[in-house]
Order: sequence, then C-alpha cells, then structure tokens
Amino acid sequence: MPAPNFDVIVSLAKRRGFVFPSSEIYGGMAGFWDYGPLGVELKNNIKAAWWRHMVTLRDDVVGIDAAIIMNPRVWEASGHVAGFSDPMVDCRNCKLRFREDDLKGPPSEIACPSCGTRGSLTEARQFNLMFATHVGPVAEDASVAYLRPETAQAMFVQFDNVATSMRRKLPFGIAQIGRSFRNEITPGNFIFRLREFEQMEMEFFVHPRDEDEWFTRWVDERHRWWTDVLGIGAERLRLRPHDPDELSHYSRQTTDIEYQFPIGWSELEGIADRTDFDLRAHAAASGKRLEIFDDASGEHLVPFVIEPAMGVDRAVLTVLVDGYAEEQLATEKRVVLRIRPSLAPVKAAVLPLLRNRPELVERARRLTADLKPLVSAQYDDTASIGKLYRRQDEIGTPFCVTVDVESLDDGAATIRERDSMTQERVSMDLVPQRIADLVAGRTAWEGVPREAPAP
Ligand code: GAP
Repeated sequence: MPAPNFDVIVSLAKRRGFVFPSSEIYGGMAGFWDYGPLGVELKNNIKAAWWRHMVTLRDDVVGIDAAIIMNPRVWEASGHVAGFSDPMVDCRNCKLRFREDDLKGPPSEIACPSCGTRGSLTEARQFNLMFATHVGPVAEDASVAYLRPETAQAMFVQFDNVATSMRRKLPFGIAQIGRSFRNEITPGNFIFRLREFEQMEMEFFVHPRDEDEWFTRWVDERHRWWTDVLGIGAERLRLRPHDPDELSHYSRQTTDIEYQFPIGWSELEGIADRTDFDLRAHAAASGKRLEIFDDASGEHLVPFVIEPAMGVDRAVLTVLVDGYAEEQLATEKRVVLRIRPSLAPVKAAVLPLLRNRPELVERARRLTADLKPLVSAQYDDTASIGKLYRRQDEIGTPFCVTVDVESLDDGAATIRERDSMTQERVSMDLVPQRIADLVAGRTAWEGVPREAPAP
C-alpha cells in the first residue's frame, strides 16, 4: 500500500488522541502541536528506544540533560547569531513573508505567490531563526537570550565537565534528548516542520585520524536503528549524502537519512562530520582549553566530532505513516496501525464480551490490574466487541484479551493478535506474563485462526 496522505494521519491522530493542534479552541498556532494521551506514550517509547540503543546498551556514550536557555555567548561562538538565518522576502501588499529559495524567479520579476501582485516583493533580507527572549525583569539588549535552536551546543560546552567527571577517553559520545525552537518561516506538513520540537542528538568525539571510519560507522548504525528498532520499511528509507554546496558551515561531510513521505523524500536524521569546529570555536570564545589527553599518541588534542541528529516528532510521524494500513476483511474495512509492540501506546486491551454481566466485568478489570505492572494495559467496555477490536487496531494495540462466559468456568481468556487476527486461549493467571514475553520478543506468537465468525 502506498504511504497514506498526511490528512489521513492528521485525522487519525486527532480522532484517537495522538496529536492535537496546539491551543485549538483559540484557532491553533502554526508550527505548534500538542501530544495527546496516546501520542505522549508513543513519543516516550520512541525516545526510550533511542536512549537504550545510544546510551544504555553502549559503554562509550553518556547522557546529559541541559538547560534550554544558555549563555547567549554560546550562540555567538557557534555561529548561530551571525549565520542561522534564511533569506526572506516580504510582500508590500499582503504583508506575507516568503523564503527566497521557494520563489520561482527573482523577487523583482515575479508576482507575489499569495496575492498575485506584481512588483510587490522586497529584496531578500536575512531572517534569524532563533527565538529571542529576555532574562530578568528588564527587557534591554544586555538581557537578550535565545531558546536553543539545537541541543548539540550543550554537549560541546559541557565537554570538559563530562570527560573529566566520567573519566572518559577517546572515542566517546555525549547524548541528549530535549526541546529545540526555530522560528521557521514555513512550518507545516503536520508535525514535520515545527517551531517547537524535540531532538535526539549525540556528539561522538574521536581522534581526528579516525574521522572517516566513525562517520561511516554511525551512518550504518543509525540506518539500522530506523529499520531494526523502529521497524520502518527499508524500501521507504534512503541515505543521501549532501552536495558540497549544501553542507552546514560546520560540516565537512553529512549524510541524511530520508523517508519517502507522500510529500516526497524528506529528512529524518542527519549524520554530520563537524570536525573540531565547535570545540575550537568555544575554546577561542571562552578562553578555556577544550582538549583531551590521548593515550595512544601521548598528546593533548582537540577531538573531531561525528554527530547523529534526529527529530523526535519526525520519528513519530514516520512510525504513524509507515505503520498505517487499510485492509478489506470479509464484510468490512479495517484500519490497522502495524507498529512494533515495543512502540505501541497500549500493549494489551482487556475487553469483556458482555458488559452487562458483572462477574465478567469484574474478572476483566482484575486481569487489567494484573497486566498493568508488566505492560501498559487498558480496560474497555464502551462498545460492542467488534467496534472495540477496530478501535484497538487503529491505535496499534498488539494484543486484545477477551473475557467471555466460558472464562468464568475454565479460568482462561482469548488473546487476539493485531496483525494476523489469530487467537490463543490462555489461562488468565498466565496472560500477563505471556503478553509481557510477546511484547519483549522473548517468545513467538502461536495463534490459530478463530472459530467463530469475525467480529
Ligand atoms: N545539531 C544539528 C542539527 O540540529 P538539523 O539537520 O538542523 O541539524 C536535526 O536538525 C534534526 O532535527 C533533523 O533531521 C530533523 O529531524 C529535526 N528538525 C530540524 N528542524 C526541525 C523542525 N523545524 N521541526 C521538526 N524537526 C526538526
């Protein structure tokens, strides 16, 4: 099935509580979205999967959690105050602003893309993408500070503290997950381009001679994470090395991991070879030595940096788009979100077959309580069993557990698997551990096609 259009995903996301427009009752705000009850779970699961693979399972990477507002000198040294900008033109007639790169010709010759007026576009001016604010009670130039436009700089300015306190030797990395802010001129495509978003970045410090080797390793490693851990289809992912003229000011080589969205191939993550640009810039601006002793050569050196940097919101979008499927069953269509059980917001939904039988309801609620310490579980009796299955399919719940009249006699319940819709009959005492093992991939599913007609 081709990737669904964004409006299908936006509608599902809102209907099912994944993502809502920010401040919607006031008309929303471009570039800002809120995660709902299921969205926050999905997002947390993606962040946990990244942290586990980038930090917990490795010996050579440690994490930090830095302040969003940093000393403004950080952004002067990093080049963001002078250079983090897009060339923009304004329409004198309708007052809208456009990126010069998006125009189909020189501003002096073409009509405004919005109101169509000829000759109304100004010359291009640089527009800095950082959000500025004031720290302290007085709004004066001296108190200007910025909301960080990337998480990366904290890893550079804390390089020495981390290396010293954690007794690090090259090569090693510092990872961080956190919010970043950019006053994007053209936010849009749902949560693809936001003004407030989350990044997961890791700065990996290496001996300069090992720069190319580690760059290649991280490109491979990160591509594998998208396919093997997030479960994104490899046929919709590609690696795209940057042309020399599109490299950022700090980068010697960059490769993007891109996904084939309905809007075209688009960047999910960039792996950049930042050389020693940042550490040298901060050393020069702060007057501090940002070096490390290298045992092999017996010298102090400024390491090079390989940086895998990705956006959490783009990962959420990719998981939703890639997992979305519509299937024609015998009598109806079903929408199913085929996402990894480890990412699913709800792992198990417990459904009593008859909600007007108090013994069934009580038994199903008890089973839900037994599941909760092991996996995220939900009790639901607000519709017929067929509707409840469809609802859980649509939010990607891998297992539904049905408690029926027979359960009261034989103490067993039926587990139904989302993708195959096959079933297992399992003693209720064993259901929580069985589901926990299935979600963790410790055991294989052994379902059989159901006997009763499909609900
Ligand atoms: N430290 C390097 C850096 O920030 P970037 O390519 O500008 O590099 C890294 O950003 C990742 O952050 C991107 O690949 C993308 O996934 C995400 N990202 C960047 N700008 C974004 C935006 N406006 N909205 C959502 N995600 C964004």
